Amino acid sequence: MAEIVIVPDAADAGALVADEIVRIVRANPETVLGLATGSTPLPVYEALRPRIAGVDVSRVRGFALDEYVGIDPAHPESYRSVITREVVEPLGLDPARIRVPNGSLEGIEHAGADYEAAIETAGGVDLQILGIGTDGHIGFNEPGSSFASLTRVKTLTAQTREDNARFFPSIDDVPMHCITQGLGTILRARHLVLLAFGEGKAAAVAGAVEGPLSASVPGSAIQLHPHATVVVDEAAASRL
Ligand code: GLP
Repeated sequence: MAEIVIVPDAADAGALVADEIVRIVRANPETVLGLATGSTPLPVYEALRPRIAGVDVSRVRGFALDEYVGIDPAHPESYRSVITREVVEPLGLDPARIRVPNGSLEGIEHAGADYEAAIETAGGVDLQILGIGTDGHIGFNEPGSSFASLTRVKTLTAQTREDNARFFPSIDDVPMHCITQGLGTILRARHLVLLAFGEGKAAAVAGAVEGPLSASVPGSAIQLHPHATVVVDEAAASRL
């Protein structure tokens, strides 16, 4: 059973998770962070800015959960760009130590295995930040994903493309495919921290935390993890 923490708002959640990240980085300057994109983790990154100043982050490593396939890495909405803009630059991380799955078409057939190998070489992820999609996806593991899955190419669902259309000029510009850490990859991280805010996430949170273990709610995989923390506001917790 995951530990549930209900906080007044997203800023409080950000502060809570940022404090924990600072604590582990101070204890281990070679901490490996699992980074997530989407709007949910932004308060964590924001809260980290003042807290991490003065902490040695030169050896911190980071692995992003996912990337769109076929998007130019320089596109402002590629997850490579988002991670650079929201995390690497403001927190002063070493860009050479931050990996994002390679979504370019060239070499896509071995990009998943390469990513798994890189995570393993780094010693595994210490703390994995997670958001959750309205359909219960984590990373880009859409409903139907195997709990044992590793980093691989997936097709985005119509729902996720609609949800993410706000970041693109139109829905037609949202890529069709992605490369994502698998549920099996995510479960190997030593600590999972799943965040969710707002009524729109309440059903996904309830399914992930209290529903049956089911591939139709990929987030329910966190129930298999010995150290998972779910940080939610009242609205996202309203169906628990
Ligand atoms: C995207 C990301 C997920 C994220 C989810 C929720 O599809 N691939 O990692 O958790 O959307 O996004 P948001 O946090 O913006 O609601």
